[in-house]
Amino acid sequence: MNDQAQQLRQIVSSTKQVESKQSNMKIITIASGKGGVGKSNFTVNLSLCLKEHKKNPIILDADFGLANVEIILGERPKYNLAHLIREECKLNELITKSKYDISFISGGSGINEMMFLPASQIEAIGSSLVQLENMTDILLIDTGAGINDSVIKFCMLAHEVYIVVTPEPTSITDGYALIKTLKSDFTMQSKIKVVINKADSKEEAHEVFKKLYYVTKNFINSEIEYVGYIPYDEKVLSAVKSQVPIFAYDKKSKASTAYFQISKNILENNVQDFKAEEKVNWIHRFKKIFSN
Ligand SMILES: Nc1ncnc2c1ncn2[C@@H]1O[C@H](COP(=O)(O)OP(=O)(O)OP(=O)(O)O)[C@@H](O)[C@H]1O
Ligand SMILES: [Mg+2]
Repeated sequence: MNDQAQQLRQIVSSTKQVESKQSNMKIITIASGKGGVGKSNFTVNLSLCLKEHKKNPIILDADFGLANVEIILGERPKYNLAHLIREECKLNELITKSKYDISFISGGSGINEMMFLPASQIEAIGSSLVQLENMTDILLIDTGAGINDSVIKFCMLAHEVYIVVTPEPTSITDGYALIKTLKSDFTMQSKIKVVINKADSKEEAHEVFKKLYYVTKNFINSEIEYVGYIPYDEKVLSAVKSQVPIFAYDKKSKASTAYFQISKNILENNVQDFKAEEKVNWIHRFKKIFSN
């Protein structure tokens, strides 16, 4: 085990699990190995879809200092987590209601101190999430790119972790690296569900999932679940440029339809079963990249 993984394990094991694990608030953390795969768009649009199902999600932007969520929502919140850290307010006072009726907590924008938070402060934010349990049924935590102690902590305290992966080989290998870190190094018990984003087709999304499924099963004996896919859709880029979430920008777009289907899958617990499908030859091709 390398030094970094050891350090991360120490930090995480020193954190108490958030008490809200026992509450009615479901915590879903959205993460990825590689950055720029669509986590923040997924989090925001899933939130809009869950609203349509009469759920009341709150988003926590845990990509501290980079303001992903508020940029997609086109908002400039007055307060952010830096105020919590400076003990200037409580977490529930930071909740901003966006124009789409989506509640979110800003991780701060361009604030240097937020980009380099020490473990103790990340832990303090994690522990304070219990304050939200009477205010929401679903807490969606959008994390930053890469595998670091903040991402791991927010995955460890979630009931479910959604890993976003695109068909790019580096996204698949980095997604696997994150799953391996969580399941093998940190023995995370929570379920890992996978969302395939920017796929050319349903078939491509299924192939990507199967690669990840068999590698995970084969090398770390852990089973991941498929929660759905979002096609590559140019309209997402236009929506992002306009700072309007695609689900509000064009509800009938391919991406919006897919986000809505995923929200249904999540609420109805529809999990596609690939286990029975025949193992394909790709495993030998990929063994080299995935091993270790
Ligand atoms: N389904 C999609 N089709 C086309 N483009 C997409 C899709 N999903 C996301 N994108 C584009 O990919 C880019 C990255 O998306 P996003 O910011 O959501 O990723 P991220 O994983 O949160 O990134 P980071 O790791 O930097 O936080 C954006 O420019 C967005 O417009
Ligand atoms: Mg992001």
